[in-house]
Amino acid sequence: MGPAELVELLGSGFSSKPDQNVVVGLSAFDDAGVIRSPSGDLLVQTVDFFTPIVDDPYIYGAAAAANALSDVYAMGGDPLSALTIACLPIQQLPTEVLKEIFLGAQDKLQEAGCELLGGHTVQDKELKFGFSVTGIVSESTLMMKSKGKEGDVLVLTKGIGTGILATAAKRGVLSKDAETILHQSLVHLNRQASVLAKQFEVRCATDVTGFGLIGHCLDIAKQSKVGITLYAEQIPILPHAYELAKDTKNRAGGLYRNRLFVESKIHINFHDDSLLSLLFDPQTSGGLLLSVPSDRVNQLVQTLLENHEVAAMIGELTGSEIQIKIIR
Ligand code: CO
Ligand code: CO
Repeated sequence: MGPAELVELLGSGFSSKPDQNVVVGLSAFDDAGVIRSPSGDLLVQTVDFFTPIVDDPYIYGAAAAANALSDVYAMGGDPLSALTIACLPIQQLPTEVLKEIFLGAQDKLQEAGCELLGGHTVQDKELKFGFSVTGIVSESTLMMKSKGKEGDVLVLTKGIGTGILATAAKRGVLSKDAETILHQSLVHLNRQASVLAKQFEVRCATDVTGFGLIGHCLDIAKQSKVGITLYAEQIPILPHAYELAKDTKNRAGGLYRNRLFVESKIHINFHDDSLLSLLFDPQTSGGLLLSVPSDRVNQLVQTLLENHEVAAMIGELTGSEIQIKIIR
């Protein structure tokens, strides 16, 4: 959960007077908070944890780490340290499984150059696992949802469909091949995409997670006070996800809530139920959604592709009315 979700949950009656050292606080509705330390460095802080999304404990641990780190990358930050949050059904959970979860997480944190300093565990009926991550960010390259400008091009750095694939896996109808694709996407770090985006003067970004691609597009639209046009054909979709999305049983409950939440702000000029469900599909450890100055976008996309990242130009920031047009 990001600060935005917290504020939404607490409602309008809750407000806080932030200290002058708060650079990005609750009211910014961003992916992580940013505070200036007494020495002048900007610290970026976030927390994220969730119930198992896959059966494989190693992949679950790695995905939880990649997902928590992602909010730091979405701010243009560099993760330094992590604390784990683990709610454990101690009686039912074999030590071997628990070890695998932590191994997966540790490997991913190491890949990110992020040190695990400690954490806290409690007993719980249902397993939950994740991290609070602290990083540093420089004021000049800080990426925020509010910094998008009309004319920017939207670039997405991972295919969508993790929710559909994970739901299919839980139902036992996911092929081995599709499962591998799901796992690879979940554990892939947004680090390189973030580093390159900063180099190419991207100052507006978010990561695609629980609200689905459209929900996170709407976040940028609202905070940057712009409209967004998406080109449906250019949106990258994980292999097998489109076919699986045709079966409504593979659509998670969150998908319908996401759709209801944004319905009044979207305009669609085609009928493709499977594609639409993917646009609302809640993602775990999804890609970065980058709002890129139009004169830098070709170079950035080319560089991302050369570095084996996904980089799809999926739309643009258009006009000042906060809405999303999806066309094909
Ligand atoms: Co988050
Ligand atoms: Co986020």
